[in-house]
Amino acid sequence: MGTEGLAHVVRLCGINKVYENGVTTHVLHDIDLEIAAGEFVTVQGASGSGKSTLLNIIGLLDTASCGELWVAAREVRGLSEDERALTRRDFLGFIFQSHYLLPEFTVLENALMPLRIRGGGAEARRRERVIGLLEEVGLGDRLGFRPRELSGGQQQRVAIVRALANEPVLVLADEPTGNLDQKTGRLVFELMLRLKEVSGTAFLMVSHDERLARETDRVVQLVDGRIADDREQASLRGN
Ligand SMILES: Nc1ncnc2c1ncn2[C@@H]1O[C@H](COP(=O)(O)OP(=O)(O)OP(=O)(O)O)[C@@H](O)[C@H]1O
Ligand SMILES: [Mg+2]
Repeated sequence: MGTEGLAHVVRLCGINKVYENGVTTHVLHDIDLEIAAGEFVTVQGASGSGKSTLLNIIGLLDTASCGELWVAAREVRGLSEDERALTRRDFLGFIFQSHYLLPEFTVLENALMPLRIRGGGAEARRRERVIGLLEEVGLGDRLGFRPRELSGGQQQRVAIVRALANEPVLVLADEPTGNLDQKTGRLVFELMLRLKEVSGTAFLMVSHDERLARETDRVVQLVDGRIADDREQASLRGN
């Protein structure tokens, strides 16, 4: 199923999120957001402003209370749990603050995990591509290592390659450099930028790092669950 030429990888229209657990917490208010193919968007906002909630809803890990959401041109409402899982698998990639690599598997096995979940035997082309990506991020000589034999930054690089294994149209990254020192965080971020350029993958990244945000295409500011600012950034790169 082709997604080439898709104008938007994600579209949200009037998305609200309300938690009811004795008390009512209105976390997201009337969120309208479109992310274009290949766009790199940063989400900023204070702790508790709803950034992770927003990413989880877009990533089909959580459901909105009301509003409309399209992921890769599919209206999400009305999809069965299986269809949601397939949409997630085929179109989305995830990078979290903690990488969640599986300790008993090697670097290569971890990076190939989405293909394994996909089933259907070896997908030779994607496997070759994953190995190529691991080489590109400097892990070509670490394919057989276990996560505990890697540095934190190396582990996060494996997690990024894993997020790209199924060639997603959009990668959701919740503070992907949050646990890394500045230099390693920078390397990981530059890897994401390069993958955006090379494979046209869109990114939605939560980051508190103003220097990184400045180098992305667009910055969305959340304040108390509302989009307070949504700014395109023209050619600031290199500052
Ligand atoms: N399951 C839940 N039930 C009730 N309230 C929740 C639930 N999950 C999150 N919240 C509330 O939603 C609000 C937004 O949380 P969220 O995790 O999206 O914030 P965030 O912007 O990612 O913050 P941080 O920068 O600290 O990660 C918080 O006030 C939180 O208490
Ligand atoms: Mg969060």
